[in-house]
Amino acid sequence: MKERIEQLLEEVSAYKASKLDEVEQLRIKILGKKGELKELFSSFKTVASDQKKEVGLLLNKLRNKTEEKIVELTSSFAQKEDDGDSFLDLSLPISDDNLGSRHPLSIVKNEIIDIFSRIGYSISEGPEIEDDWHNFSALNFPKEHPARDMQDTFFIDKENALRTHTSSVQVRVMENSTPPIRTISPGRVFRNESISARAHCIFHQVEGLYIDKNVSFADLKQTLLYFAKEMFGDKTEIRLRPSYFPFTEPSAEVDVSCIICSGKGCNVCKHTGFLEILGCGMVDPNVLENCGIDSKVYTGFAFGMGVERIAMLKYQINDLRMFFENDVRFLNQFKSTI
Ligand code: PHE
Repeated sequence: MKERIEQLLEEVSAYKASKLDEVEQLRIKILGKKGELKELFSSFKTVASDQKKEVGLLLNKLRNKTEEKIVELTSSFAQKEDDGDSFLDLSLPISDDNLGSRHPLSIVKNEIIDIFSRIGYSISEGPEIEDDWHNFSALNFPKEHPARDMQDTFFIDKENALRTHTSSVQVRVMENSTPPIRTISPGRVFRNESISARAHCIFHQVEGLYIDKNVSFADLKQTLLYFAKEMFGDKTEIRLRPSYFPFTEPSAEVDVSCIICSGKGCNVCKHTGFLEILGCGMVDPNVLENCGIDSKVYTGFAFGMGVERIAMLKYQINDLRMFFENDVRFLNQFKSTI
């Protein structure tokens, strides 16, 4: 009997099953109602009493080993079946639940770039850490002149600061090329302002520059009207108000007819019918000369706008901080092909 049990133990430990059925067969053979164990237990009484202990232990061992084997084989099949259940059909279309969306500021920036590219403007970029010359001096801000206060600046040291506008990029373009120049400079700018619904210490600009022979204020007006209509719709009108910038003369601020009430007057435009969108002017001859361009031969215009401001108007967002919080519930609402 001992030999029979040992033989069965070996059989169990070597047992292999290629399907679940075969595991069941092992169970029936050893543990089943008419199985080996049952039979062995019933002939247990015939075992000599001095061997009963040893044989009894062996019988228990056979039962335990068989049970372990069954669990082991069954669980290996369960895993394989799981793999079958999660069968991946790679030809299925992807679910777009988790698709990201472009940031509204990028959408608007790309739209501005697109509008100006269509009339021949190139894109120029420059460093965010600028020296005094490119951010101020070349642009006609005299040293110690209070005009520098217009743009509260984050200074890094005496000579360098985080750029307060992307006009600095235009200085670089003028220094390094000969007219005609037609370029826009999108980028991040920095001003030491306290953060509120209407202001942030980091924001984005797109500034434009056009220099050639005989460029006039009329060209500037027409370019901006084209931009306003492309950006806010065909019925949009513009209004220019005299203003001051050290680097342009004359200078103006530009309003568009309110995109909410079309100029009739509402809360958004504070019942004026107009919304301010950018600053502009004819490039001051001093600036041209500072950048090595002959102001007797060439004239030009420049303009600059805040991307946040345009995006707030376009999407009717009344708190600028939303752009920086990156709450997906906000970001998900913007879909674009640009
Ligand atoms: N650089 C100005 C600003 O940051 C905008 C501007 C650009 C105004 C060009 C006039 C001409 O506010």
